[in-house]
Amino acid sequence: MREQLDQLLQDALREIASANSEDSLQELRVKYLGKKGALTSLMKGLGSLSADERPLVGQMVNTVKSQLEEKLDETLTGVREAAKSERLQSERLDVTLPGRRGGRGTKHPVSLVIEEISEIFGSLGFQVAEGPEIELDFYNFEALNFPKDHPARDMQDTFFVDDNILLRTHTSPVQVRTMLKHAPPVRIISPGTVYRCDSDATHSPMFHQIEGLMVDKGVTFGDLKGVLTTFVNQYFGKGTGVRLRPSFFPFTEPSAEVDIACVMCRGTGCRVCKQSGWLEILGAGMIDPEVYRHVGYDPESISGFAFGMGIERIAMLKYGIGDMRLLFENDVRFLSQF
Ligand code: FA5
Ligand code: MG
Repeated sequence: MREQLDQLLQDALREIASANSEDSLQELRVKYLGKKGALTSLMKGLGSLSADERPLVGQMVNTVKSQLEEKLDETLTGVREAAKSERLQSERLDVTLPGRRGGRGTKHPVSLVIEEISEIFGSLGFQVAEGPEIELDFYNFEALNFPKDHPARDMQDTFFVDDNILLRTHTSPVQVRTMLKHAPPVRIISPGTVYRCDSDATHSPMFHQIEGLMVDKGVTFGDLKGVLTTFVNQYFGKGTGVRLRPSFFPFTEPSAEVDIACVMCRGTGCRVCKQSGWLEILGAGMIDPEVYRHVGYDPESISGFAFGMGIERIAMLKYGIGDMRLLFENDVRFLSQF
């Protein structure tokens, strides 16, 4: 048994000395010192020894065990040190290497369209105004002549925060905020994010509008049509099909909706224009006297128009995008094309 122990010690030490990784050392630890390891099975022979020999051999077993443990630990430390210095060697920082460039991003098509449209209206004398996306009922509805519980509110499926606070459903509340702050004349546009409970190829629950508002002495529906036609010709090119349809908004009278010939199908009908050949891009009209009363303007001495365009629809027409949802999927392969 002594010989066997001695043999085991020699074998183990030799194997440990030639191990060169943490894994192989762990295997050796199991092989020799584990519950089912070589040393444990040798110890089963202790029972057959005489009472005199047993303590001596037992002591020998303990010595072998601690020798092996010590050797394993020592080798493990060495192996770890070696791996670490190897890593440091290969990962050494070379400060003379050229830096890695982050890819340069592109502007989102919605931002591009807002900038381009703002520039056109800027050249027509419109200044940019802003308003909050979380809005009070008063500005989004009440002052715009949507009385409480009036069916006209159903035109815009609304996300309410509570009875009085909501995510604005359009940029029209900025009309009210602007007129409350400034006496006429006013001439503003207001781009921004709006929210409705809406979702399909041409409707997104979060989308963007640009509001336009012009109030002065003697502003007519002819001015509205002139401004919008100028815009469409500049933005989409002369000769772009434009169509005004009579419509209804509680805050304008008369009201119109403006369609542009669908560029996806060139007017023959497709999924984007719902087979009609036209895509509605904005609502507009002459400001209703009821709105002037809410903001303290005198409807007898001034008049004005407003419009609200859907930016995503305009982006789709301008860039030939077949599904509005592409604009919000954040796929860089799509976005980097603009
Ligand atoms: C309005 O929001 C009115 N505030 C527009 C207005 C302003 C009228 C000033 C008169 C005076 P409407 O709900 O039709 O109107 O929306 C205006 C435009 O927003 C639509 O023509 C369309 O281009 C776009 N739009 C409406 N809903 C969505 C939607 N869910 N996703 C994307 N675009 C939308
Ligand atoms: Mg509409």
